[in-house]
Amino acid sequence: MSRARFEELLERMLGLNAASIGTSAIDRAVDERRRACALDDDGYWEFLQRSREEMQELIETVVVPETWFFRDPEAFAAMARIVNELWLRSDPSRLLRILSLPCSTGEEPYTMAMALLDAGVPAHRFRIDAIDVSLRALAKARLGVYGRNSFRSRDLSFRDRHFENAEGGYRLLDTVRAPVHFGHGNIMDPTFMTGAESYDVIFCRNLLIYFDPPTQNRAVAVLGRLLGKGGVLFVGHSETGLMPPNGFASAKIPMAFAFRRAEAQPAPLTRLPSPPLPRAAAGRPPAPVKKAAPVFAPKIVAAPEKPRQHSIDDLRRIADSGDVEAAARGCEAFMRDNGPSADIFLLLGLIRDAGGDAIAAANYYRKALYLDPANPEALGHLALLLRRQGDHAGARLLDERMRRQGGRRNG
Ligand SMILES: C[S@@+](CC[C@H](N)C(=O)[O-])C[C@H]1O[C@@H](n2cnc3c(N)ncnc32)[C@H](O)[C@@H]1O
Repeated sequence: MSRARFEELLERMLGLNAASIGTSAIDRAVDERRRACALDDDGYWEFLQRSREEMQELIETVVVPETWFFRDPEAFAAMARIVNELWLRSDPSRLLRILSLPCSTGEEPYTMAMALLDAGVPAHRFRIDAIDVSLRALAKARLGVYGRNSFRSRDLSFRDRHFENAEGGYRLLDTVRAPVHFGHGNIMDPTFMTGAESYDVIFCRNLLIYFDPPTQNRAVAVLGRLLGKGGVLFVGHSETGLMPPNGFASAKIPMAFAFRRAEAQPAPLTRLPSPPLPRAAAGRPPAPVKKAAPVFAPKIVAAPEKPRQHSIDDLRRIADSGDVEAAARGCEAFMRDNGPSADIFLLLGLIRDAGGDAIAAANYYRKALYLDPANPEALGHLALLLRRQGDHAGARLLDERMRRQGGRRNG
């Protein structure tokens, strides 16, 4: 019996595009839940239509909760700078409203709180709302106890400042927990956060990669509705290309993947360097906006086409989902078929960097720069890597080169 109907249901409910995580991952999730309910495919399908609880169980089984503290740290540093340098000074009485969507198991919103507290922003000056569709992830987030997997960044000094030892890992201190408020929500729900006050900062990272283009456009429209005037939206590095076609312009903060509404007159980001954001201009043309389907609507469309061969964007998604070895193998296969390119070397560099192999990562970044000397992502990541290794002079040279190349690329 066809599994396409389950894929379609998950796409309507969650926005999840089967091709983004692979149909076999959806198959496995359906099998797991079907067996837990002791039903065959048809019986389980019928049950799913009737039971919201089971729908939630299936969602829990299929979502990818991959996250860690200070993931893409430049975004948090940029947020803290913007908050400190611009907003708090210009309006000292205002409470800053920040949204983390999706927040998964809490590492992202708690990192926001740590970054702001470390930058000297008092806890009573900001509020962080953190939303996810997974109740399981939210329960873990509220518990605030984290194991090794949540601490993947090189610099772990934040752990000494903001955690205490606990059974099974490290417990966040109340100072970090207090400003963060968790809530359950689904960005695909037509009533999602209607009537909510707008936000000064929104982080929506590593969610849009799981959607197909029309769904991505719908989700970005929701983010646009929630973002206040002059607000800043941070997305994941492989999601930047979606923003310009949806009316957002780069905030020009290197490696932070930050955007403002294109029509909004950007406030001057004093003291922030401003080379172009990597890959932000390579947007696709706007896809037609799909009308929101009712939550338990009957099936209406055919199963999506499955990709035959991985593109570089597919491989980035696979790497982002945590399966870095599969992504690395995919990169090698891609190079065999298509030859080397700066983009594929860059991705291999990112994969090796994330795995802690600094030597291999640096080699790949250099290969990317050999083929594309102005590649801002390769320049930025290599500079970060050198800085982490204590080679500040080498990093400064790359920063300088990035500024020069950035100017040239901007014309
Ligand atoms: C890969 S995590 C990203 C977490 C964090 N933003 C980060 O970048 O580290 C993706 C999260 O998206 C959530 N999610 C998936 N579909 C969603 C939806 N339609 N609405 C809200 N959250 C969703 C999942 O439950 C999962 O926790």
